[in-house]
Amino acid sequence: MKAVLIPGDGIGPEISASVESITKAMNLDIEWVKYRAGAQYAKETGEVWEPGLVDAIEEYKWALKGPTATPIGTGFRSVNVALRQKFSTYANVRPLRNFKGIDSKYENIDLVIIRENTEDLYKGIEYMLTDDIANGVKLITREASTRICRYAFEYARTNNRKKVTAIHKANIMKYTDGLFLDCYREVAKDYPEIETQEVIIDNMCMQLVQRPETFDVLVAPNLYGDIVSDLCAGLVGGLGIAPSGNIGDDYRIYEAVHGSAPDIAGKGIANPSSLILAFAMMLEALNKQKEAQSLREALAAVVEEGKFTTPDIGGQATTKEFTDAIIDKL
Ligand code: NAI
Repeated sequence: MKAVLIPGDGIGPEISASVESITKAMNLDIEWVKYRAGAQYAKETGEVWEPGLVDAIEEYKWALKGPTATPIGTGFRSVNVALRQKFSTYANVRPLRNFKGIDSKYENIDLVIIRENTEDLYKGIEYMLTDDIANGVKLITREASTRICRYAFEYARTNNRKKVTAIHKANIMKYTDGLFLDCYREVAKDYPEIETQEVIIDNMCMQLVQRPETFDVLVAPNLYGDIVSDLCAGLVGGLGIAPSGNIGDDYRIYEAVHGSAPDIAGKGIANPSSLILAFAMMLEALNKQKEAQSLREALAAVVEEGKFTTPDIGGQATTKEFTDAIIDKL
């Protein structure tokens, strides 16, 4: 099969090369079709992504994406946000768990954040009311909220998870977050075997820091989901090891959750785990459970041994040495 690979900016090409080597080493029947996108491409050409990218995703349906830089406060639209909206990949799924060998204050974290991916403040509807007043629209719809809550409960049922926690601030945002919560309650009625819980976002942040092991599946509107996702990545040892998938009914775009890491780009020391684990999520969705599992186990073993890990997780290896060690285990 063919699938799209978007290496992206900064360390993106370095960690994408890891996935390409692993694909080859595992003899997987996946041909990566590469497209450029992001800030560097925009600087060179004035376009956000290479012509043909959208058609290729439409045709192949599956994509893996490295980080793309988004300059702050310019007219440049985020590639991530544009792709998520274009392909209606409405669910951002981010599983997080501890890895032996990576320092974390916590143990036994095993949670999945399911973030609504298409609306809320990320719709990008904002404007200057006057020179001194900016206004942004928080758009929440019944359709998108019901769809994401149903995805979360279905995910819980399919993956034998016990609880779905809704994150909100409906005490203050009575219409927008109130609507999200209404949809959550309505959908929950169809899943009586799954425990429900509603937690206000600020309280959620505190509880996640105090007892993250008590959470299972979390479902949230876009902005809260974004923030909580990074908070949880911090709990398990950083962004370098957290994967994610942007899932829609017809298209799936898997990605590393971290950014382009301009401070270490080009040095060959980026941790490729996030993109590799995103690739493992993709393999699982392609019904290649065995391959996905082997890849995760090989990566976990290399991390646990600690001999060939990158500096961000306490090692001294290069991206290539880390990747080769995973391939050796495979
Ligand atoms: P960042 O995630 O790029 O970097 C934060 C820190 O984590 C840096 O010290 C970096 O060296 C380190 N880091 C991140 N990934 C790493 C990895 N795989 N291995 C080792 N160290 C790693 O966040 P920052 O600096 O806020 O953003 C840089 C650019 O990336 C911005 O333009 C931002 O818009 C973009 N970005 C893109 C994302 C995406 O495409 N999904 C997500 C987040 C940011």
